[in-house]
Amino acid sequence: MAAPLIVVNCKTYGSASGDALDRLLASIEGVDTDGVRLVFVVSAFDLHASRSMHPQFEFWSQHLDPVGQGSHTGWLEPETAMQRGARGTLVNHAEHKVDIAHVEDLLSMLAGRIDVCACAADEAEARRLAALAPTMIAVEPPELIGGDISVTTADPGIVRGTVDLVKSIDNGIMVLCGAGVKNGDDVAAALRLGAEGVLLASGVTKATDPAEVLTDLIDGARRG
Ligand code: G3P
Repeated sequence: MAAPLIVVNCKTYGSASGDALDRLLASIEGVDTDGVRLVFVVSAFDLHASRSMHPQFEFWSQHLDPVGQGSHTGWLEPETAMQRGARGTLVNHAEHKVDIAHVEDLLSMLAGRIDVCACAADEAEARRLAALAPTMIAVEPPELIGGDISVTTADPGIVRGTVDLVKSIDNGIMVLCGAGVKNGDDVAAALRLGAEGVLLASGVTKATDPAEVLTDLIDGARRG
């Protein structure tokens, strides 16, 4: 069985961008990550430096556009992202919605070379995305994002329901859950509900001691 995923989305938090991201990553270098797959989802600006300075961690891009190299000013072009160390990407995050054709074209362009985690607000959206066979689907009720109550407590049904639904469509798609995930108990609960990992942001990016929080999240993944 694959190691549970803990995916930390740095978003555009000042505490997890630029020089502050370097400090955050340096502060967690000693954390024991055995038995989990820890991923940092960073901005395009931070991808190359983070990968170069902290090669022990896995990095994803927060978004990619299905465009080739050439005349696409300002778009996030996948070949360069991969060259700069992205081993995966989020797409269709609640804060960066795209249409279904964007996801379909991106999957086709990437052709399995890196992981694609497509985000879904609910089961209906997860169903549409599952038909495209992304590597993973992360279910995140938008109203719980950035809050203090984990989706696993506020709405365990959406986690279990999304897992059952996605697996019934394509058993090979991994399912993550996110929104309000803050501690190891939330991670353990997510795994008990059938998710294969969590997607979180503020629990780590706003923490006074990110190393302590990550240690607890990882402990929860091991317990789950
Ligand atoms: O991408 C993860 C995110 O949307 C959840 O944010 O702050 O509720 O962990 P947060």
